[in-house]
Amino acid sequence: MKIISSIDELRDHLRGQLRTAFVPTMGNLHEGHLSLMRLARRHGDPVVASIFVNRLQFGPNDDFDTYPRTFQADAEKLEKEGVYILFAPSEKDLYPEPQEFRVQPPDDLGSTLEGEFRPGFFNGVTTVVLKLFSCVQPGVAVFGKKDYQQLMIIRNMARQFSLPTEIIAAETYRADDGLALSSRNGYLSAAERAEAPRLYQELTALAENVRLGQAPIAELERHAMAQLSSHSWKPDYISVRRRSNLMPPSADDLAQKSPLVVLAAARLGATRLIDNLEI
Ligand code: PAJ
Repeated sequence: MKIISSIDELRDHLRGQLRTAFVPTMGNLHEGHLSLMRLARRHGDPVVASIFVNRLQFGPNDDFDTYPRTFQADAEKLEKEGVYILFAPSEKDLYPEPQEFRVQPPDDLGSTLEGEFRPGFFNGVTTVVLKLFSCVQPGVAVFGKKDYQQLMIIRNMARQFSLPTEIIAAETYRADDGLALSSRNGYLSAAERAEAPRLYQELTALAENVRLGQAPIAELERHAMAQLSSHSWKPDYISVRRRSNLMPPSADDLAQKSPLVVLAAARLGATRLIDNLEI
């Protein structure tokens, strides 16, 4: 595996490749990330992974400085997965001057759910992803459903800018007790880690009740939030949305059984966890 930090050197290595498969990450890799590498390998060749902790997507009170950086262990994992190039630019390589041009996601997709609680987050994500795509020029790129809204926004960006990159979704990789793997799980104390699967359990119960048409959706959402709150979580949102555009479902959507997804974000102690489940 080649480890490359310079954009020019990366482009030299990839010149003429028509079906590069790309997996962008912020490192601190776990099995969820590695499942994306395996999916990438099935859809393109060579596989390029990137590790870059992108300052633009962190808010002033977010964990940019403390975000776990485990480069050596990450590189070993990627090498074992048959990754051809690990692109690991420094901030100077990727942002040699202030990044003043930005991608601005539309409000209906970018300012709801995560966008409401993390203003500017998706502007930072889409800006770095567009820039990484410009460096790698992938034929296909893989993103996890774990970050469902991020995946949707990147899909829409690729379509609206006519990017020549096919966006592929990977299923959420979970621990045996249901907790979605995340680099931020490492912040949890042992007691919090034991409590953490409740988020997925509440999503599972809510999804089942929506399927059965048990109660008005708003009531089911409120109930799930209350369940979390009573176990000392601080939920930001639990919200049932249409899969196609992440808007709240209308009565027609429900009658026609449009595909739905329930998305959630909640804090457990100092750690903010997100998860979702297709209904
Ligand atoms: P990061 O959180 O490192 O995640 C990198 C990729 O791994 C994303 O596509 C994410 O959805 C996926 N992923 C994380 N946990 C997963 C799990 N348990 N199951 C399946 N996929 C999982 O997402 C980012 O980095 C950044 O925002 C990035 C896109 C790299 C832009 O900076």
